[in-house]
Amino acid sequence: MKHTNGSIEIVTGSMFSGKTEEVIRRLRRARIARQQVQVFKPVIDNRYGLEKITSHAGTEFEATPVARSTDIPPLLKPETTVVAIDEAQFFDYGVVGLANELADRGLRVIVAGLDTDFRGEPFGPMPQLMAVAEQVDKLHAICAISGEEASRTQRLINGQPAYFDEPVVAVGAAELYEARSRQHHAVPRRPAAMPSVQPVPPGQPEFLGGVLVSAEQIRDRVAELGAMISRDYVGKELVLLCILRGGVMFLTDLMRQVSLPHTVEFMAISSYEPGVRKSTGQVRIHLDVKQDIAGKHILVVEDIVDTGHTLARVLDLLNTREPASLRICTLLDKAERRETQVPVDYVGFTIPNHFVVGYGLDVDEYHRNLPYIGIVKPGFNIG
Ligand code: IMP
Repeated sequence: MKHTNGSIEIVTGSMFSGKTEEVIRRLRRARIARQQVQVFKPVIDNRYGLEKITSHAGTEFEATPVARSTDIPPLLKPETTVVAIDEAQFFDYGVVGLANELADRGLRVIVAGLDTDFRGEPFGPMPQLMAVAEQVDKLHAICAISGEEASRTQRLINGQPAYFDEPVVAVGAAELYEARSRQHHAVPRRPAAMPSVQPVPPGQPEFLGGVLVSAEQIRDRVAELGAMISRDYVGKELVLLCILRGGVMFLTDLMRQVSLPHTVEFMAISSYEPGVRKSTGQVRIHLDVKQDIAGKHILVVEDIVDTGHTLARVLDLLNTREPASLRICTLLDKAERRETQVPVDYVGFTIPNHFVVGYGLDVDEYHRNLPYIGIVKPGFNIG
């Protein structure tokens, strides 16, 4: 029995939203209506067996695995009236033209796939397929955190959110992925957009030319950094080593976001004299760490890396004490000003070349208490 009109139907949503279950339901109904059905899936998806598609709930339907979209037309039987393609996000972009072509020929095309990847980004050819389809059904799973409707797929590694820059393609089991609502979907190390200058609120110091990073932006980013650190130092003896004085506000906020047991240490150094806004490369240590750091995992917490001279000296010194690891977490990175290479592992914000103040950073020792990062107008001096 032929359809009079071909069409494309999309069944999409996050993992565990019941897409395959829904496709199987439609296919069974098509069979009852005496339609001839063929199902294809990418060879990459070997979750439950090669020659079938299987929903998380356990229902199955026979399917033919194919490597690419061009493999499908030669396998189509003349009597087929319904074509289903599962896990379409893993197909090449040729699947869009193929779906259109089959629908143009009068076939009913049912396509299932993830709308977004674990980062929340559109997944493969799914956006194009959704655009050309007659019907799009977005299904929702249940958020593993809140129990609300989930629209995102959370990837977890060692129980912690996977980083933005971890590879996208990995078909996996339940322990690696879970459904989350937008609010509870976490993607650490998403490249923070270069902050854009915002106006200075009324009543704030007049030497400010603008607000570069707001208190809210700082709070959100510090939470992300804390989550990454908590993930990376599981089972390690972590010491957060704050460089005084600029790093102190960052440290106190950051340590509240680090869920692992850790100790804190302080070093006070000075890199340049009041009124001179360029590091000399001469670093004086006024206060040294109290504990023996040998064999411990040291994470240096800095407010800003500018030329890099200060940190390079601090790292040289700390390395002689043989820590198990030595890494850097800085809130701000003026990357374009770097004169000496320092390996920065965690960066809050990469910022352009402005002299900035607030959230621990000073202008001639003052204004560290501002809750945001402000830009100092060129030529300004205290007193
Ligand atoms: P570097 O040796 O040039 O990397 O300088 C690092 C130190 O200079 C930081 O720890 C800050 O104390 C200070 N610094 C660099 N840029 C700024 C800024 O824009 N505002 C305030 N302090 C800064």
